[in-house]
Parts: sequence; C-alpha cells; structure tokens
Amino acid sequence: MLSHLLSLEGIEAVVVERHSRRRIEERIRAGVLEQWVADLLVETGVGDRLKREGLVHHGIALRFQGKDHRIDFAELAGGKGVTVYGQHEVVKDLIAARLAAGGAIVFEAGNVSVHGFDGDAPVIRYHVDGEPRDLHCDFVAGCDGFHGVCRPSIPQGALTVYERVYPFGWLGILAEAPPASDELIYAHHEDGFALLSMRSPQISRLYLQCRPDEDLNLWPDERIWRELHHRLETTGAPWRLTEGPVLQKGVTAMRSFVVEPMQYGRLFLAGDAAHIVPPTGAKGMNTAIADVRALSRALTAFFKEGRRDLLDSYSDTCLRRVWKVQRFSWWMTSLLHRFDDHTPFDRRRQLAELDYVTSSRAAATTLAENYVGLPME
Ligand code: PHB
Repeated sequence: MLSHLLSLEGIEAVVVERHSRRRIEERIRAGVLEQWVADLLVETGVGDRLKREGLVHHGIALRFQGKDHRIDFAELAGGKGVTVYGQHEVVKDLIAARLAAGGAIVFEAGNVSVHGFDGDAPVIRYHVDGEPRDLHCDFVAGCDGFHGVCRPSIPQGALTVYERVYPFGWLGILAEAPPASDELIYAHHEDGFALLSMRSPQISRLYLQCRPDEDLNLWPDERIWRELHHRLETTGAPWRLTEGPVLQKGVTAMRSFVVEPMQYGRLFLAGDAAHIVPPTGAKGMNTAIADVRALSRALTAFFKEGRRDLLDSYSDTCLRRVWKVQRFSWWMTSLLHRFDDHTPFDRRRQLAELDYVTSSRAAATTLAENYVGLPME
C-alpha cells in the first residue's frame, strides 16, 4: 500500500518481501476494512474488485444471554459502514497494480538486513536466488510485521515497549459454507467467546476462544463444529449455524503491543512492526494502512517540498491514533471473552456492560464510531 501511494506521487519504492507471491496471496488474515480504507482503495484506483466482491456491512450483532443485539453503524456513525474483504484480496489487488505500473517487488528475498539508517544512506541487504544484493535508498519503511527484521535492528534502549498478553487465543476456521447471518455475530458465552464472520456469500470465517497454546490436533472438525454450535446457537431460537468443509484452520495468539517511537533515524516502522492488537476489534490491517498513509504524506512533503516536519512528527501522529485503537481492541476483548480469573462479580459486570452498550445510544455510538474507523488527522 505504501509503495502504491508513493508511486501515485512519483516516488520510487522497492518492496522487499520474504515470502513468495503465492503465499502472501493465499494466506488468510484479517477481513474487515474500515470505511475510509475502502474509500482510499477506491480513490487510488485499486478498488474495482473490492467494489464488486466486497460485502458492505452497516451493523454487527452482539449475542449474549441467548439474544442478539444489533449495533446499527449506519444510524450511529453517520451512514458509515465496513467492508468485508480479505486482507489477502487487498494484497492481490495491490501486487497486480504495482506490477502493472512497472513497480518493483522482490519476492522470496532471503537474509534481509537493514543498515545505515542512523545516517543519510540506508542500505537493505538481501539474497535472491542465493545472490547477495544491496539496495541503496533514502528511507527504509519497516512494514515487515511483528516478527520482521526492522524493529530488532533499532539499538536496544531506543524503543519503549508497552505490552499485554491475553491468557487465551482464537481457533479460526475458513469453511465452505454460506454464512448463517448477513452480518458479523460477536458472541459472549459462558464457555468462551465465538465469532461468526465471512469472506464471501459462500465462505464462512468462524472463531472460538481457546487456550493460547491450543493443540490443533485435539480439534478435529466435528469438535470445532460442535463447540461453534454450542457457543453461537441459543437454546430455543430457530437460527442454525451452517456447516461445510473446513478449508483452513489455525490458532491466533492475542496480544496488545506498542513500541514508541515508531521511528529511528531514516527507519520508519509501520503496522505490526510497531504495534499489535488482539483481533476482536478487526483493527490490525486498518491501523497499518493508517500508518502508511501518514508516512506517504510525510515522504511526499519531503521529496516535493523539502519539508521534514511531517517526517519528524510521523511517530506522534500515528501513535495518537494507534493508542485509541489499542484502547478499543482491548475493550472489545475484555468485554467479550471469558477470563479464567474472573469472579462471579466480574461476569455480572461484563453482562451489565454488554447490556449498557446495547441499550444506551451514547454507549452504542462509541462502539460504532470506533468500529467503522476513527477519523484520520
Ligand atoms: C475476520 O473475518 O477474520 C474477522 C472479523 C472480525 C473480527 C476479527 C476477524 O473482529
């Protein structure tokens, strides 16, 4: 996305990717675009398929104590909504657009390392087909994820880490089954959280709260479906979850993580390289795109007008929004999950909060405006 935004300003960028094109185009990741992200993809010319295939949603359901409570985004957040469209589909569209525009993407780059970013002449070193390469550049954008090489290349002591690890994970499946609901269902259940999401009118994406180190071998498909029925279906209601062949399954750990600042010299961190949220608020990809939008503006001001001010304020600009997204993701996670150390008091308080959020217009509005995406500066 960053290289796409920069190319529209006539700024050259090379994407150095560790994995194969196939792997990043197939790996199932996030799936919900905030309103402004969908708009940005369309405005910058990479939204044709998104417009055809993306599913626009104007609400979600919170399901607890056997009942659904709809949060109406259109009404509460000024007509805004979200678009359900897989991150790997966004990746496919961006790769196609970059390659069609003559952009450079190096796939399957090995031994990637970054150097010299504390001075004026950074270098990215890597191997392709066993051959060493040096890429000399003006700036390095560390968009290489939580496990990437950029953040650990910054000298110890220059970054402050803020972190919270949750005592649970999500077991997620992708199933060839028409979603049993037109909108996402976030279910609070005695035995743990469950989520019904989707990727298309034929493909469901479903999650169950599980142990953080859950062993997938203990979860044959029948057990996953049994547990999903149990947590998503409410006794007596006619609604039934639709089943189908399981196409993919995996366990996601849940963590809140931020480093400050998001910059060191000419190395700028963006997305998961700088911050992680638990997936409950569907914010990971959206926040990464917010970062690179700010970075593309700062780099444009630098190259076109010789201004450094936006580069200097990049970290502060991003972090202001990042921390609000952290708060929201932590809050959605705390509201909906079962915590083993919860007392009966805590469970009652959690249910009271769900009741409040779904019965007070003021409370529902704060959920809606965060979910569809906070304004960009
Ligand atoms: C997903 O479809 O993968 C998804 C949707 C909503 C979330 C998290 C994940 O909150």
